[in-house]
Amino acid sequence: MECQLVPSLLSADFYRLEEELAAVERAGVTHLHLDVMDGQFVQNISYGPGVIAKLRPHTDLFFDTHLMVREPSYLFPAFQKAGCQLLTVHWEAVTHLHRAIQEIHALGMKAGVALNPATPASVLESILPDLDLVLVMSVNPGFGGQSFITTMLPKIRLVKAMIEASGRPIILEADGGINLDNVDEVLEAGCDWVVAGSAVFGKDTEKAARAFQEHLGK
Ligand code: DX5
Ligand code: ZN
Repeated sequence: MECQLVPSLLSADFYRLEEELAAVERAGVTHLHLDVMDGQFVQNISYGPGVIAKLRPHTDLFFDTHLMVREPSYLFPAFQKAGCQLLTVHWEAVTHLHRAIQEIHALGMKAGVALNPATPASVLESILPDLDLVLVMSVNPGFGGQSFITTMLPKIRLVKAMIEASGRPIILEADGGINLDNVDEVLEAGCDWVVAGSAVFGKDTEKAARAFQEHLGK
Protein backbone atom coordinates (compact mmCIF):
# COMPACT_ATOMS: atom_id res chain seq x y z
CA MET A 1 0.00 0.00 0.00
CA GLU A 2 1.21 3.50 -0.83
CA CYS A 3 2.51 5.63 2.05
CA GLN A 4 0.73 8.92 2.57
CA LEU A 5 1.43 12.01 4.59
CA VAL A 6 -1.94 13.12 5.94
CA PRO A 7 -1.59 16.66 7.33
CA SER A 8 -3.91 17.43 10.23
CA LEU A 9 -5.84 20.64 9.68
CA LEU A 10 -6.09 21.18 13.44
CA SER A 11 -2.67 22.86 13.45
CA ALA A 12 -3.37 25.08 10.43
CA ASP A 13 -3.82 28.84 10.67
CA PHE A 14 -7.62 29.06 10.46
CA TYR A 15 -7.40 32.70 9.42
CA ARG A 16 -5.45 31.62 6.30
CA LEU A 17 -7.06 28.27 5.50
CA GLU A 18 -7.08 28.85 1.74
CA GLU A 19 -3.30 29.44 1.71
CA GLU A 20 -2.64 26.54 4.08
CA LEU A 21 -4.53 24.09 1.84
CA ALA A 22 -2.86 25.45 -1.29
CA ALA A 23 0.56 25.02 0.37
CA VAL A 24 0.07 21.31 1.15
CA GLU A 25 -1.39 20.73 -2.32
CA ARG A 26 1.65 22.37 -3.97
CA ALA A 27 3.80 19.90 -2.01
CA GLY A 28 1.88 17.06 -3.65
CA VAL A 29 -0.23 16.09 -0.64
CA THR A 30 -3.45 14.29 -1.60
CA HIS A 31 -5.04 13.53 1.80
CA LEU A 32 -6.20 15.80 4.63
CA HIS A 33 -6.84 14.70 8.22
CA LEU A 34 -9.86 16.39 9.81
CA ASP A 35 -10.04 16.20 13.62
CA VAL A 36 -13.56 16.55 14.93
CA MET A 37 -13.72 16.99 18.72
CA ASP A 38 -16.90 17.18 20.79
CA GLY A 39 -15.76 18.46 24.20
CA GLN A 40 -17.13 15.23 25.71
CA PHE A 41 -15.07 12.31 24.47
CA VAL A 42 -12.05 14.64 24.47
CA GLN A 43 -11.46 17.83 26.41
CA ASN A 44 -11.45 20.07 23.38
CA ILE A 45 -13.82 21.32 20.71
CA SER A 46 -12.67 21.81 17.12
CA TYR A 47 -15.04 21.97 14.14
CA GLY A 48 -17.78 19.90 12.57
CA PRO A 49 -19.52 19.10 9.29
CA GLY A 50 -20.51 22.72 8.65
CA VAL A 51 -16.89 23.88 8.41
CA ILE A 52 -15.86 20.80 6.40
CA ALA A 53 -18.68 21.42 3.90
CA LYS A 54 -17.30 24.92 3.27
CA LEU A 55 -13.86 23.49 2.39
CA ARG A 56 -15.13 20.80 0.02
CA PRO A 57 -15.80 22.96 -3.09
CA HIS A 58 -12.27 24.40 -2.93
CA THR A 59 -10.11 21.26 -2.83
CA ASP A 60 -9.85 17.74 -4.19
CA LEU A 61 -7.97 16.47 -1.11
CA PHE A 62 -9.28 13.17 0.29
CA PHE A 63 -11.05 14.00 3.56
CA ASP A 64 -9.84 11.53 6.23
CA THR A 65 -12.17 12.39 9.11
CA HIS A 66 -11.22 11.47 12.68
CA LEU A 67 -14.26 11.64 14.94
CA MET A 68 -13.31 12.20 18.58
CA VAL A 69 -17.01 12.24 19.38
CA ARG A 70 -19.08 10.20 21.80
CA GLU A 71 -21.73 8.09 19.99
CA PRO A 72 -21.29 9.99 16.69
CA SER A 73 -23.75 8.01 14.51
CA TYR A 74 -26.28 10.87 14.39
CA LEU A 75 -23.66 12.97 12.56
CA PHE A 76 -22.72 10.45 9.84
CA PRO A 77 -25.20 11.78 7.21
CA ALA A 78 -23.98 15.35 7.78
CA PHE A 79 -20.35 14.31 7.24
CA GLN A 80 -21.33 12.44 4.09
CA LYS A 81 -23.12 15.54 2.76
CA ALA A 82 -20.07 17.63 3.70
CA GLY A 83 -17.97 15.53 1.32
CA CYS A 84 -16.01 13.29 3.70
CA GLN A 85 -14.75 10.11 2.05
CA LEU A 86 -13.70 8.28 5.21
CA LEU A 87 -14.98 8.39 8.79
CA THR A 88 -12.98 6.96 11.68
CA VAL A 89 -14.75 6.44 15.00
CA HIS A 90 -13.13 5.67 18.35
CA TRP A 91 -13.46 2.16 19.74
CA GLU A 92 -13.84 3.76 23.20
CA ALA A 93 -16.65 6.11 22.12
CA VAL A 94 -19.11 3.79 20.39
CA THR A 95 -21.25 1.12 22.08
CA HIS A 96 -22.54 -0.60 18.94
CA LEU A 97 -19.41 -0.44 16.85
CA HIS A 98 -20.39 -3.00 14.23
CA ARG A 99 -23.63 -1.13 13.52
CA ALA A 100 -21.79 2.20 13.29
CA ILE A 101 -19.35 0.79 10.72
CA GLN A 102 -22.27 -0.55 8.67
CA GLU A 103 -23.97 2.85 8.81
CA ILE A 104 -20.84 4.58 7.48
CA HIS A 105 -20.57 2.06 4.64
CA ALA A 106 -24.27 2.39 3.82
CA LEU A 107 -23.67 6.12 3.27
CA GLY A 108 -20.95 5.29 0.73
CA MET A 109 -17.93 6.21 2.86
CA LYS A 110 -14.95 4.19 4.01
CA ALA A 111 -14.88 3.31 7.71
CA GLY A 112 -12.11 3.20 10.28
CA VAL A 113 -11.65 2.51 13.98
CA ALA A 114 -9.25 4.47 16.20
CA LEU A 115 -7.64 3.09 19.35
CA ASN A 116 -6.52 5.26 22.27
CA PRO A 117 -2.99 4.57 23.54
CA ALA A 118 -4.24 2.41 26.45
CA THR A 119 -6.58 0.31 24.30
CA PRO A 120 -4.99 -2.98 23.20
CA ALA A 121 -4.84 -4.11 19.58
CA SER A 122 -6.74 -7.27 20.53
CA VAL A 123 -10.10 -5.40 20.66
CA LEU A 124 -9.97 -5.25 16.85
CA GLU A 125 -10.30 -9.00 16.40
CA SER A 126 -14.05 -9.21 15.68
CA ILE A 127 -14.40 -5.92 13.80
CA LEU A 128 -11.28 -6.04 11.61
CA PRO A 129 -12.92 -7.81 8.63
CA ASP A 130 -15.38 -4.89 8.33
CA LEU A 131 -12.80 -2.09 8.37
CA ASP A 132 -11.05 -0.06 5.70
CA LEU A 133 -8.64 1.57 8.15
CA VAL A 134 -7.22 1.22 11.65
CA LEU A 135 -5.96 4.37 13.37
CA VAL A 136 -3.45 3.86 16.17
CA MET A 137 -3.33 6.97 18.35
CA SER A 138 0.25 7.76 19.29
CA VAL A 139 -0.86 10.50 21.71
CA ASN A 140 -3.93 10.78 23.90
CA PRO A 141 -6.49 12.44 21.65
CA GLY A 142 -7.66 16.01 22.15
CA PHE A 143 -4.76 18.27 21.29
CA GLY A 144 -2.11 18.82 18.64
CA GLY A 145 1.54 19.31 19.50
CA GLN A 146 1.96 16.45 22.00
CA SER A 147 4.91 14.03 22.14
CA PHE A 148 4.84 10.66 20.38
CA ILE A 149 4.31 7.76 22.81
CA THR A 150 7.07 5.35 21.78
CA THR A 151 5.38 2.31 23.34
CA MET A 152 2.84 2.58 20.50
CA LEU A 153 5.43 1.18 18.05
CA PRO A 154 4.99 -2.45 19.18
CA LYS A 155 1.22 -1.93 19.01
CA ILE A 156 1.51 -0.69 15.43
CA ARG A 157 3.54 -3.83 14.58
CA LEU A 158 0.88 -5.99 16.22
CA VAL A 159 -1.97 -4.36 14.28
CA LYS A 160 0.07 -4.69 11.08
CA ALA A 161 0.42 -8.42 11.70
CA MET A 162 -3.33 -8.71 12.31
CA ILE A 163 -4.06 -6.86 9.07
CA GLU A 164 -1.67 -9.07 7.12
CA ALA A 165 -3.25 -12.17 8.60
CA SER A 166 -6.69 -10.90 7.55
CA GLY A 167 -5.56 -10.78 3.91
CA ARG A 168 -7.56 -7.58 3.40
CA PRO A 169 -6.17 -4.23 2.18
CA ILE A 170 -6.82 -2.38 5.45
CA ILE A 171 -4.99 0.94 5.80
CA LEU A 172 -2.89 1.37 8.96
CA GLU A 173 -2.63 4.96 10.16
CA ALA A 174 -0.79 6.54 13.09
CA ASP A 175 -1.72 9.91 14.57
CA GLY A 176 -0.01 12.17 17.09
CA GLY A 177 3.46 13.52 17.71
CA ILE A 178 4.87 12.43 14.35
CA ASN A 179 7.70 14.49 12.86
CA LEU A 180 10.70 14.03 10.57
CA ASP A 181 12.78 12.60 13.44
CA ASN A 182 10.45 9.69 14.20
CA VAL A 183 8.47 9.11 11.00
CA ASP A 184 10.88 6.40 9.81
CA GLU A 185 10.19 4.31 12.92
CA VAL A 186 6.45 4.67 12.35
CA LEU A 187 6.77 3.60 8.72
CA GLU A 188 9.10 0.71 9.60
CA ALA A 189 6.54 -0.51 12.15
CA GLY A 190 4.11 -0.88 9.26
CA CYS A 191 2.05 2.31 8.95
CA ASP A 192 0.67 3.31 5.56
CA TRP A 193 -0.68 6.74 6.47
CA VAL A 194 1.08 9.10 8.85
CA VAL A 195 -0.82 12.04 10.30
CA ALA A 196 1.19 15.15 11.15
CA GLY A 197 -0.24 18.42 12.43
CA SER A 198 2.24 20.69 14.17
CA ALA A 199 5.16 19.27 12.15
CA VAL A 200 3.51 20.42 8.90
CA PHE A 201 1.48 23.54 9.64
CA GLY A 202 3.26 26.39 11.38
CA LYS A 203 6.07 28.44 9.93
CA ASP A 204 6.46 27.41 6.28
CA THR A 205 3.75 24.86 5.53
CA GLU A 206 4.81 24.10 1.96
CA LYS A 207 8.45 23.57 2.94
CA ALA A 208 7.54 21.28 5.85
CA ALA A 209 5.09 19.27 3.72
CA ARG A 210 7.71 18.95 0.95
CA ALA A 211 10.30 17.68 3.44
CA PHE A 212 7.86 14.96 4.55
CA GLN A 213 6.97 14.10 0.97
CA GLU A 214 10.65 13.70 0.06
CA HIS A 215 11.10 11.49 3.11
CA LEU A 216 8.27 9.29 1.83
CA GLY A 217 9.97 9.14 -1.57
CA LYS A 218 7.45 11.40 -3.35
C1 DX5 B 1 -5.02 14.66 18.31
C2 DX5 B 1 -5.38 14.64 16.85
C3 DX5 B 1 -4.22 14.67 15.94
C4 DX5 B 1 -3.39 15.92 16.03
C5 DX5 B 1 -2.03 15.65 15.48
O1 DX5 B 1 -6.17 14.51 19.06
O2 DX5 B 1 -6.12 13.48 16.56
O3 DX5 B 1 -4.62 14.45 14.60
O4 DX5 B 1 -3.96 17.00 15.35
O5 DX5 B 1 -1.23 16.76 15.74
P1 DX5 B 1 0.33 16.59 16.02
O6 DX5 B 1 0.93 16.03 14.78
O7 DX5 B 1 0.76 17.99 16.29
O8 DX5 B 1 0.49 15.68 17.20
ZN1 ZN C 1 -6.48 12.93 14.43
